[in-house]
Amino acid sequence: MRILVTSALPYANGDIHLGHLAGAYLPADIYVRYQRLKRRDVLYICGTDEHGVPVTISAEKKGKTPREIVDQYYKSINESFKDFGMTFDNFSRTSLPIHHRLAQDFFSRIHKKGFIYPKDIEQFYCTQCKRFLPDRYVVGKCPKCGNDGARGDQCETCGHWLEPFELIEPRCQICDSVPQKTQTRHWYFKLSEFQNKLAEWIASKKDWKETVLTFVQGWLREGLQDRPITRDLEWGVPVPLEEAKGKVLYVWFDAPIGYISSTMEMSQKQGKPDLWKDYWLDQNTKLVHFIGKDNIVFHALIWPAMLMAYGDYVLPADIPANQFLNLEGGKFSTSKNYAIWLPDFLKEFKADSLRYALTRNAPEARDTDFTWRDFQVWHNNELADILGNFVNRTLTFVKKYYGSSVPEASSFGERDNRIFDLLKRAPEKIGTRIEHFEFKNGLQEVMRIAQEGNRYFDHEEPWATRKKDEAACARTINVCMRIVTALSAMIDPFLPYTSRRIKDMIQFEPEGWDGIAGVQYARSIGETSILFEKIGDDAIRLQSDKLKKEMIDLDYFSKISLKSAKVMTAERVEGSKNLVKCQVEVGDEKKQIVAGIGKDYEPSDLVGKIIVIVDNLQPAKIRGVLSEGMLLAAVDEKGTVVITTDKVVNSGTQIR
Ligand code: 2FM
Ligand code: ZN
Repeated sequence: MRILVTSALPYANGDIHLGHLAGAYLPADIYVRYQRLKRRDVLYICGTDEHGVPVTISAEKKGKTPREIVDQYYKSINESFKDFGMTFDNFSRTSLPIHHRLAQDFFSRIHKKGFIYPKDIEQFYCTQCKRFLPDRYVVGKCPKCGNDGARGDQCETCGHWLEPFELIEPRCQICDSVPQKTQTRHWYFKLSEFQNKLAEWIASKKDWKETVLTFVQGWLREGLQDRPITRDLEWGVPVPLEEAKGKVLYVWFDAPIGYISSTMEMSQKQGKPDLWKDYWLDQNTKLVHFIGKDNIVFHALIWPAMLMAYGDYVLPADIPANQFLNLEGGKFSTSKNYAIWLPDFLKEFKADSLRYALTRNAPEARDTDFTWRDFQVWHNNELADILGNFVNRTLTFVKKYYGSSVPEASSFGERDNRIFDLLKRAPEKIGTRIEHFEFKNGLQEVMRIAQEGNRYFDHEEPWATRKKDEAACARTINVCMRIVTALSAMIDPFLPYTSRRIKDMIQFEPEGWDGIAGVQYARSIGETSILFEKIGDDAIRLQSDKLKKEMIDLDYFSKISLKSAKVMTAERVEGSKNLVKCQVEVGDEKKQIVAGIGKDYEPSDLVGKIIVIVDNLQPAKIRGVLSEGMLLAAVDEKGTVVITTDKVVNSGTQIR
């Protein structure tokens, strides 16, 4: 059986961050590395998603062309993936001609088969920018959670998928003006026709992740709607129809086709142009899509329906979507630059330390949180103190007392046999975890072996037996070297760089996966070095400080309306020591503001002062009292100092 593994094609509009890695990339790489060790026929396919509004908006905001943006990020994404140890068999790009041709062929064939039809609809149009505003070009308030800044395709805050017209108070993302509804023609994919076929197909996927099935069944219950698959944009795959001139395919129509075109590109590069067919056109191929949860609907419903409509191609066998990794309690956000970027990370720390932390904390069943503190603790207390320590103490012993040759041993006792037993069962146990996409548990099993190794070493006390029972000492070290050898193989999918280093140190290459444990082992060792240096507090503080300062751009700042205001009256809020209620004058307007300054100010001292307020803050009730703005104050442990203007200015003056 052939296995075809893909990871979601990342948008070429920014670098990869830790959230991406934990979702769709690292688990797939572990899976593929394991399958290769099992000597299975596996291909791992990926590439950059270079079309769509995410790319064009980034380009516009940075004053570059989409071409410049995708070239820049294809290069840096590809490089940082390599440095992280990703082992794609091919990493392609959706802007290549081979992809454009295939995406157009897909459209044409399902159009011919009657699964695509045109429809005249209304769309938002910006009269300032003189163009249509598809998807994320419109922003506004989410109809579901009220968050301002929801995009025309999805609200990032609550995850709700939406259509641009559902947004409350819609605005143009680029110029902020209010868009108009204008007629345009688009082509729709008849997703509704696949409702029954998809439901039947999904019903056979009993062993898929619970989270994926629940999500998909929710959509099926609501009833699938036809979807527009064209857009009024200049950047993308041109729609292959004369009457659709100037329109491109919707990015989510062309992107998954990238899995196939990337496999084709690989085949061509290898000089075997038909090789891709062995995978994509064989119904026995096990096609596995690794993605994050925000991509489930596209991979588990729309893409399979496209494949069904086209015919011939294999359908996904599994879609082990992950939940989200958060960052120090907040959501990763490319647009808000709240993230840890992979290239930055790899400048400071080792790839395997990150692979360890992300797997140990994998968001497999629920969202998890990355903190710098956890990262440090896991690196120091687990990688260094458990794995590193065991390998190091064993190798040092061999070097120091056995002249770097591993001692022979015989007449093993009960404890030794228990270790052999552990090693013998390990490949299957860990393998089963990996095959079920339980990478966190798989890694835990591996670490348990290192932990058992340390316990064994401590109990056998080779440093003592060396002087009184040479045979016992040799036996202990022999067993420990079998553990080290087995570990070098079993950590390979998870920590490939460390695996390589251990193999180099023990001058031994374990073969495959199943027969490795306990049987094969190194007989001599070469140069050794410490596997994991500890990470100090200063290095971690530096990183977490970087995160605390979220940078905003001028656009963001200009949304905050700061004005001078004159305090007319002020009194304490009944029943509160700290809250003061002020009536202020802001130009012609009167407002009530509640502030926590009562410990430092007598209300009467505030009257007459010209203060600074945030004028456009959503009104809120504080202790049941309405507050229509916020006054600015400097706050530290000594108390609160209200900000006033240096000279007298009229109330209502804009502050910049
Ligand atoms: O969400 C994303 O980042 C998309 N670029 C994923 C595309 S996956 C596939 F279909 F290509
Ligand atoms: Zn505009």
